[in-house]
Amino acid sequence: MTLTPSTDVVTRELRGKVLLVTLDHAPVNALSADVRRGLLAAIEAADNDPAVKAVLIVGAGRNFIAGADIREFGKPPLPPALPDVCNRIEACAKLVVAAIHGAALGGGLEVALAAHYRIAVDGAKLGLPEVQLGLLPGAGGTQRTPRLIGAQAALDLIVSGRHAGAKEALALGLIDRVGHSGDVLAEGLAYVQELLASHAPVRRTRDALALSDRAASLAAVATARAETAKKSRGLFSPLKIVDAVQAAIEQPFDEGLRVERNLFLQCLDSPQRAGLIHAFFAEREVLKAPETRHATPRALNTIGVVGGGTMGAGIAVAILDAGLPVTMIERDDASLARGRAHIEKVYDGLIAKGRLNAEKKADIMMRWQGSTSYDALAGSDLVIEAVFEDIDVKKAVFAELDRVCKKGAVLATNTSYLDIDAIAASVSHPQDVIGLHFFSPANIMKLLEVVVPKQVSADVVATAFELAKKLRKTPVRAGVCDGFIGNRVLAVYRSAADAMMEDGASPYQIDAAVRAFGFAMGPFQVVDLAGGDIGWATRKRRAATRNPAARYVQIADRLCERGWFGQKTGRGFYLYPEGSRHGVPDPEVEAIIDTERTRAGIAPRTFTDDDIMRRYMAAMINEGANVVHEGIALRPLDVDVTFLYGYGFPRYRGGPMKYADTVGLPTILADIREFAKEDPLFWKASPLLIDLVERGADFASLNQTA
Ligand code: 3HC
Ligand code: NAI
Repeated sequence: MTLTPSTDVVTRELRGKVLLVTLDHAPVNALSADVRRGLLAAIEAADNDPAVKAVLIVGAGRNFIAGADIREFGKPPLPPALPDVCNRIEACAKLVVAAIHGAALGGGLEVALAAHYRIAVDGAKLGLPEVQLGLLPGAGGTQRTPRLIGAQAALDLIVSGRHAGAKEALALGLIDRVGHSGDVLAEGLAYVQELLASHAPVRRTRDALALSDRAASLAAVATARAETAKKSRGLFSPLKIVDAVQAAIEQPFDEGLRVERNLFLQCLDSPQRAGLIHAFFAEREVLKAPETRHATPRALNTIGVVGGGTMGAGIAVAILDAGLPVTMIERDDASLARGRAHIEKVYDGLIAKGRLNAEKKADIMMRWQGSTSYDALAGSDLVIEAVFEDIDVKKAVFAELDRVCKKGAVLATNTSYLDIDAIAASVSHPQDVIGLHFFSPANIMKLLEVVVPKQVSADVVATAFELAKKLRKTPVRAGVCDGFIGNRVLAVYRSAADAMMEDGASPYQIDAAVRAFGFAMGPFQVVDLAGGDIGWATRKRRAATRNPAARYVQIADRLCERGWFGQKTGRGFYLYPEGSRHGVPDPEVEAIIDTERTRAGIAPRTFTDDDIMRRYMAAMINEGANVVHEGIALRPLDVDVTFLYGYGFPRYRGGPMKYADTVGLPTILADIREFAKEDPLFWKASPLLIDLVERGADFASLNQTA
């Protein structure tokens, strides 16, 4: 029997004495306003109906509840508020039980904590991940969790935002029972019957006693505060979480809820929340490239990699880690042995850290085979080429692939800069050729630029996205140009940094300003880490085609001429005494810079950190706009995800294009026009940026159009 009125998204059904309340709001039962309304109405109905002795809350589909509806944040609030719904659930006079499967995250777990008893089935994921969105649990989570499981465990869960499985949740005291049958509804109903039969009392989490040792709880808060201050690098919400949990210890429940609310609203208002939520949706949007909507991926059971150097070996590890077999091709036996050794080194490192054992490593290596003959690739579904960055070498490799690979095999290149259209044109089936631009170290870095040449067929693009999924990479669709999205934009803001260095800022000041902005490393640290010789080789290659009118800063060349390639040679922009990975400023480098300034006839001037970041970001944003304007990136958000996942851009700022919207595009354009007074060739405003400013629009307005 169905009691009316159920809503579309929350249905009620009386099962004997139990009111079964099912949230059915695809895809993840997020707690949108109508779900909250339906839930509230269900609890009211239960309280008002003498036939109802207990309420069982379950979620339809694959999850219990994924949390508050993130899409509502930043918009005017709609009643009823989630904290009120949770309080109402907790106040219910009838027994309320939550039966959890899949995700019970954020507001979803808060609903469960407001229930009187909780059961979760195997495979459930419980957590309060709000911190990852720049928030804190805002529906009682910071008050109920510590009361239920203690301050220390609650802080660990909420500050990290991690998920706990059903078994761990039981051990923590977050839930009362684990069901093993896999049928959440049957488990939930049986549990409610059992509670009713044993006359289990209504039991409210607000009255739970895990904080009764006040001194120990406050000590846990003090420790968490110190650790969080150290680790949370510029993030706003983690310390607010500690404040909220402290209030749970020091204040009565209702007052604690008020403190939590206040802190939650502060987080909600912060630009970090907007940046992190932009990142959350952007990393999901990039998966929906046009080709993935209508084309079916080809098979991906056997993969070949040509080249066992830095990238080939890293890519092979990524493939092995996904459980797939890999065939590696190298030039000769010695190179092949080196390629295998590179791979083994990764796994030996894990063994040394206790994260793998020798037996597992042997199992993994069973899936690796190597050869110096391309014939070994005859059965491969996909081959990824990662040989030297030289178009003739690459074309020769593709000619071999063309000869040996089966019909329909996908042929991919990991080139950083070369013209993939030209590579495709050199084989007999150009529609099978695509760019798969991994980042170093390829087994760790999440970004995968899927570079789409003119002639490629849609199912090959879909296959690339499928590969990314299998390898747990974040794919971004990019068009063919020099450097695709990431390296093309990088080249421009690197030039801006070089110009500032020559004009008077030290590389150390620039790096420090960039770190203070939130990047893990500054541009000159990155050069030292990657090896200055790589960029030097590229610069030499391009010298002949460089626009002679363009400014060219030679400082990096002066360092490379001395063999100072960075960490691997013990010095670059920084000194690395005795193999240290931590660089220290080098007075000799500063002297070289001075000499270069004199040579170039430049009187050095001072830059504030703000001056540095304005130029650095304007260069990045302007080239990002060009990349969108030319259709190299589908949308601004694709540029954002590229930088978040491949270039260490601070996630809480959402990416360069989101950051530009936050600052305001007119401000960015005005900066560019001001900088153009010194160097009009370099600081040429992107037509897209000009157009958006003229229309009073922002980058976000272009994010819906893929
Ligand atoms: N609100 C709105 N939409 C959501 C959402 C949410 N909380 N969680 C997921 N979605 C959307 C996704 O954007 C995606 O939409 P799309 O299909 O249009 O791209 C769709 O649901 C499916 O999501 P996933 O692709 O991520 O599906 P998975 O099965 O891979 O993962 C999940 C499911 C583990 C639930 C994952 O989506 C997730 O981690 N969601 C966010 C959980 C979270 O952060 N909750 C806390 C919210 S803040 C809060 O609750 C505040 C409260 O304290 C007041
Ligand atoms: P690397 O020099 O470390 O490795 C290249 C490997 O290719 C060597 O082991 C070499 O023996 C092998 N090789 C050369 N010619 C071959 C042939 N004809 N057949 C089989 N093997 C051959 O170079 P790295 O750094 O791994 O770069 C490879 C490719 O990846 C390049 O195109 C590079 O631009 C690109 N790339 C490099 C990144 C990096 O950070 N190193 C990042 C992203 C892409």
